[in-house]
Amino acid sequence: MPNPSTTPSPLLLALRDATRDCHKALEARLPFFDLGFDTAAYRRLLQAYYGFHAPLENQLGDYQGPERCKTAALTRDLLALDLTEAEIDALPLCQALPAISDEASALGVMYVLEGSTLGGQVLKRAMAERLGIGHDSGAAFLDVYGEMTGSYWRSFLVRLGQASTATPAQAATVQAAIDTFTRFEQWLAKSKVLI
Ligand code: HEM
Repeated sequence: MPNPSTTPSPLLLALRDATRDCHKALEARLPFFDLGFDTAAYRRLLQAYYGFHAPLENQLGDYQGPERCKTAALTRDLLALDLTEAEIDALPLCQALPAISDEASALGVMYVLEGSTLGGQVLKRAMAERLGIGHDSGAAFLDVYGEMTGSYWRSFLVRLGQASTATPAQAATVQAAIDTFTRFEQWLAKSKVLI
């Protein structure tokens, strides 16, 4: 019997395969490692992240446990970066979100949001080095699960491994993941925070 925590499920392999190019394209357009990237630009970027994550997590509803909610960390970061609660409440929110209609599509959205916590570990270190921003001064979102990052990722993979193996369900998960990357990139572009 394959061990689900070490053997990638066919669905995980399909997700990786289908979103590899989306990840590369988005990573190349994100300004984190740009020469002129400063705290003001970081704040604008986080505002745009908030505008996507807040409504999307709302839409995920019960498909995602409250312990995986990342919007609270974004709010905390924006407050640490001197936005007021009223300013945060007034931030523009993305209206063109990926559709979530069942467990299959929710899993595709979650794959992207959960996977981004892995890259967050790299970004957390880079932002500490480049901008001097840490967990309590604007980088809580980048390290939202802290030392639990690995175990949260592995437990998500277990859920992914238990997903329906029916072809339409798997196709819906993969499509939702592609849509999440695409719509996030479109939203960030519209918010004028990409390179
Ligand atoms: C400059 C920004 C980014 C960097 C440097 C980055 C870097 C990384 C790295 C190093 C990994 C692999 C971690 C590992 O295997 O342990 C990873 C995985 C992943 N990242 Fe990113 N990332 C970035 C942005 C994003 C964004 C914005 C998203 C989605 C909104 C995202 C989604 C994912 C996903 C879904 C995975 C999991 C792939 C898998 O193992 O199946 N990343 N990222």
